[in-house]
Amino acid sequence: MLAACLLALPLTAKTNTLSEKDMGAEAKQQEQYWSEQQKQKKTIRSGELWPDDAGRHINAHGGGILKYNDTYYWFGEHKDEHTSNALVGVMCYSSKDLVNWRNCGVALGVTPSLDSLNDGTPSGNGSGISSDIESGCILERPKVVYNPMTKKFCMWFHLELKGQGYSAARYGVAVADRPEGPYKFLYSQRANAGTWPVEGSPMGFDEYLKRDFAGGQMSRDMTLFVDDDGKAYHIFSSEENFTLHIAELTGDYLHHTGRYTRMAPGGQNEAPAIFKHDGTYWMITSGCTGWAPNEARMFSAPSIWGPWTQHPNPCRGPKADKTFEGQSTFVLPVGNQYIFMADIWRPKHPIDARYIWLPIEFEDGKPVIRWRDEWTLETK
Ligand code: DGJ
Repeated sequence: MLAACLLALPLTAKTNTLSEKDMGAEAKQQEQYWSEQQKQKKTIRSGELWPDDAGRHINAHGGGILKYNDTYYWFGEHKDEHTSNALVGVMCYSSKDLVNWRNCGVALGVTPSLDSLNDGTPSGNGSGISSDIESGCILERPKVVYNPMTKKFCMWFHLELKGQGYSAARYGVAVADRPEGPYKFLYSQRANAGTWPVEGSPMGFDEYLKRDFAGGQMSRDMTLFVDDDGKAYHIFSSEENFTLHIAELTGDYLHHTGRYTRMAPGGQNEAPAIFKHDGTYWMITSGCTGWAPNEARMFSAPSIWGPWTQHPNPCRGPKADKTFEGQSTFVLPVGNQYIFMADIWRPKHPIDARYIWLPIEFEDGKPVIRWRDEWTLETK
């Protein structure tokens, strides 16, 4: 993505105050800008501003990508200027080539906050009833998978209820008929209440597992994975972020089946990103240091159910000991390549968080992620 084309379009945040004539002119100008952008040969430059079809930095953090038909859909957290809490919801962008991205708008919107409900503003609905995804909640790391059986697009995300910090530790589920949405929020809860993992006991490092057995296991940083046989899995940081859980999903991808395994008990892994290469499952994670970067970890297993083996840090190059100042979010298979995706968080100015996309190479059969200032992706 070229930095040079940034913000070339004089956009206004006050579109609704423009006359119809002005709006038509602006739309025409944006189309012109977009058509020019698509003609440019673009490279991927991690850490820079990445403009969308209107020249605005893409706002889809902690994201993941779904390929549906010949189009890629990028879902991620909308971040505000001053807060990482969700004031908008999950954004969706679409692309045919992974470098030119069109803003498809809000895929899953948060609901107006209770504070605004009865204040006479247009956003208030007057119902007096809040929802789990009320504006101001924490909604992170959304991922979407397509279910060919139900023909629905299924979104899972990490949810923290408004005003409760990170204590709710829930996952949320939403569903749509079209990839870009709108998604309908279904429910949020903790995971696998009243169910022990498939390995049963003794388990080791199981204090929090036992504590949360009845009420449900904590569910924070997460991803989704659909295996070659169509089975889907929800992978999330649980047990106070000490242990990852890998939980099987029902055939409609909307619930857990109750079968789950624990991975790296006590290892404190966050930000799981998984892919499968030549029959081996690879998972890249981070340690737990809040918004600050740390050294990536890597695991492999012959089955999603394990056993999982830890390998050295796959990153190479400057700042490889800090994941190039980023934190993993997703691995996208493209043809016979894989793209490692990470976020460079900017907690003081969240909307300015940046993206790292780097190709995964294999050396001696193991994934290696080498820093590149700039690279070209062949999607064909
Ligand atoms: C690290 C997680 O990976 C992020 O998604 C976010 O929850 C931050 N912690 C909050 O500190």
